Amino acid sequence: MEEPYIQELFAERIGGKKFGKEDKIYKFEKIKRAKREALKNNPGVELIDLGVGEPDEKAFDMVIDALKREAEKPENRGYADNGIEEFKEAAVRYLENVFGVKGIDPETEVVHAIGSKSALAMMPSAFINPGDMVIMTVPGYPVFGTHAQWYGGIVYNVMLTKENSFLPDFNSIPLEVCAKAKVMVLNYPNNPTGVCADENFYHRAIEFAKKHKILLVIDAAYAALTYNRKPFSFLSLPGAKDVGVEIHSLSKSFNMTGWRIAFVAGNMRAVQAFAMVKDNYDSGQFKAIQKAGVVALDNYYLTDTIKSKYERRLKKLVGTLQKLGFEVKMPEGTFYLYVEIPKGMKGGRRFKNAEEFSQFLIKEKLISTVPWDDAGHFVRFSATFEAKDVDAEGRILEEVEKRLGELQFEF
Ligand SMILES: Cc1ncc(COP(=O)(O)O)c(C=O)c1O
Repeated sequence: MEEPYIQELFAERIGGKKFGKEDKIYKFEKIKRAKREALKNNPGVELIDLGVGEPDEKAFDMVIDALKREAEKPENRGYADNGIEEFKEAAVRYLENVFGVKGIDPETEVVHAIGSKSALAMMPSAFINPGDMVIMTVPGYPVFGTHAQWYGGIVYNVMLTKENSFLPDFNSIPLEVCAKAKVMVLNYPNNPTGVCADENFYHRAIEFAKKHKILLVIDAAYAALTYNRKPFSFLSLPGAKDVGVEIHSLSKSFNMTGWRIAFVAGNMRAVQAFAMVKDNYDSGQFKAIQKAGVVALDNYYLTDTIKSKYERRLKKLVGTLQKLGFEVKMPEGTFYLYVEIPKGMKGGRRFKNAEEFSQFLIKEKLISTVPWDDAGHFVRFSATFEAKDVDAEGRILEEVEKRLGELQFEF
């Protein structure tokens, strides 16, 4: 029998005594339930999952072979603490080779992390005192903000809207927020909007950070996945290292999601503070994974194969949606397509929000997407659906076109 007093012990940050008892159903649980129901009601019909937020393929053989080799070596068995030199040096080479970033010192300006999620979760503990503010963009990846709040920090959300091209408007941020803010988190190429930020934007971000004495945390999880534009790093700009750090991940660029390997690079004091905190959370990623990571980073061209697959899939999806009347264009980066929902069906039902539209697509057409209702009403299609080869991929995309083509949308 479970001891009833355990329920009394939970911290307020996770809901206190109410933890696990609230009946609020979260977005991803709603999607899961709708998928289950749709499959039950349509036996034998294939569910097409365009809601997945991670690569559909395994890592490259070259990288897997390196892991196999390195995993055997006794010298790789132990705690890795704040990381091995080889990985930091490879991170510096990667920044230079892919983004043209120069002058990063591997010893003092780079630290590995067990995935960028974990880096974003730990970093607030190095900066946030109760009452400090953090500027986050919405819709977005909320991890830094969640932890900042757990430390008593306050999150100020800047909306990414179609009207501002999904870039934050620095001038819209109230001065009292700027005064209290210690950190601003930016993520480009952006999940979920697929938008990239250019050099001009980052110049403005650096100026804003300097003016208000704010640390910029650039979440560059999708940095290498760009279409028709060169991958860009904020660290390639003069002054960037004075005001911020950038977090790179091997998850999406090298299909290494489950391997958990990333790095934080940039401002030395911020990197060292992160390292200090990290040292108190974990003992570093398995050295064999770091060494396999070196192979990936040094063979950065591998990302091109991934990129061309997503590009092919996204182009086809964009074409399908355009034919149906959606206002949509090829994303600049990531593997997501962020699409404004239609008003409803011609002469039929209306969609109040993206959640309703997404539920409708799952239940009626067995096509799963992720709804975003934070700043306008959009659904996110992802190009990472599973398909064993190009033919299978083509068949799935044809099927999407066929199923959606049976509907008459009103915009
Ligand atoms: C914007 C963004 N940042 C960070 C992450 C975390 O990536 P990882 O922890 O695998 O490096 C993700 C994963 O979906 C993401 O979308």
